[in-house]
Amino acid sequence: MGKGEIKMNNPPPRPIVQPPGKSLKYTGVKHTIFVMSGKGGVGKSTFSVNLAVSLASLGKKVGLIDADINDPDDPKLLGINKMEVFADDEGIIPVSTKYGVSVISMAFLLPSEDTPVIWRGSLRHKAIQQFLEDVKWKGTDYIVVDFPPGTGDEPLTLGQLIPDADGIIIVITPQEVALLDAVKAINFAKQIKIPVLGLVENMSGFVCPHCGNTIDIFGRGGGEKTALKYKVPFLGRIPIIPEVAEKSDEGIPVVTVNDTLRKIFSDMAARIVEQVEKK
Ligand SMILES: Nc1ncnc2c1ncn2[C@@H]1O[C@H](COP(=O)(O)OP(=O)(O)O)[C@@H](O)[C@H]1O
Ligand SMILES: [Mg+2]
Repeated sequence: MGKGEIKMNNPPPRPIVQPPGKSLKYTGVKHTIFVMSGKGGVGKSTFSVNLAVSLASLGKKVGLIDADINDPDDPKLLGINKMEVFADDEGIIPVSTKYGVSVISMAFLLPSEDTPVIWRGSLRHKAIQQFLEDVKWKGTDYIVVDFPPGTGDEPLTLGQLIPDADGIIIVITPQEVALLDAVKAINFAKQIKIPVLGLVENMSGFVCPHCGNTIDIFGRGGGEKTALKYKVPFLGRIPIIPEVAEKSDEGIPVVTVNDTLRKIFSDMAARIVEQVEKK
C-alpha cells in the first residue's frame, strides 16, 4: 500500500469501476456542491459544516468531503474526537455524526492533530480521489465539498474529478482583497464549467451586543456588488458573531444553537435546494 492511501483491514482487490470524471453520480450521489474561497481563513469550513447540517435538517441525507488536505478542520467542527475511519469490503465508511452529516477527512488519516501534511501533488490528488471514489456515498442526497483555499492544483483536480457537480458556492469576506479573490474564483468556475450557485459574504458586519448597532469592520456590500457585476447570485451575508468561533472550538455547529444563524443558513440551504433540484 502506498503512502497516502487509506488503510483497510485486508483490502480486497477492487477494480476501479467508476468512469473517470463521473464518480459521484455514478456512485449514487444525487447532488454535489462545491464550497470554494479565493483564500484561507474566510470561513469556508465553518460555512461548509453549517450548510451541511442545515441541509440535513431539511431532511436530506448529507455527506461532507473535507478536501482541504492542509487544514482538515471539518471533523473537529462536527465534534468528532476519535480520528479514525474504517472500511469494509465495499469501501471506506464515512464517519457519521448526530447532526445527520457523514464526513470524510484527511484528519482521520493523520497520526495526530498537529502533524503537518507534507505531500507532493500526486499524493494529494490520490487522497482526494479516494475520498470521492472509495468512500461509500451511495444513497446520499447532497455531498458538500469543503475545498482547499484558492484556485490552484487541488481545486482543479476536484473540478476534473466531478465535472457534473451541481454548483459552486464562493465564500468571501468584504475586504477588497478578498473580493479580488472572489473574482478569481468566479473565473475558475467558468473555466471548469460548473455554475456558480452564489456568493456568500461572511464576517459581514458586527452587531454590537451593547448598543445593537452594526459595525462594518471589514466594509459591507462589496459581495453583493461583485455578484451583480459578474452576474452570479448573491446568497446572503453572515455577520461576525463571537459564538461562531466559540462553538467551533467546542465542536458544535453554531446553527444548532444560534437562532440568527439557524435562520440565515436554513434560508440559504432552501434556496440552494430550490436552485439545484429545479434543474
Ligand atoms: N461569521 C463568523 N463570525 C465569527 N467568527 C467566524 C465567522 N466565520 C468564521 N469565523 C471564524 O474564523 C476562523 C476561520 O474560519 P474557517 O471556517 O476555519 O475558515 P477557512 O476554512 O476559510 O480557513 C475560525 O476561527 C472561525 O471560527
Ligand atoms: Mg478550512
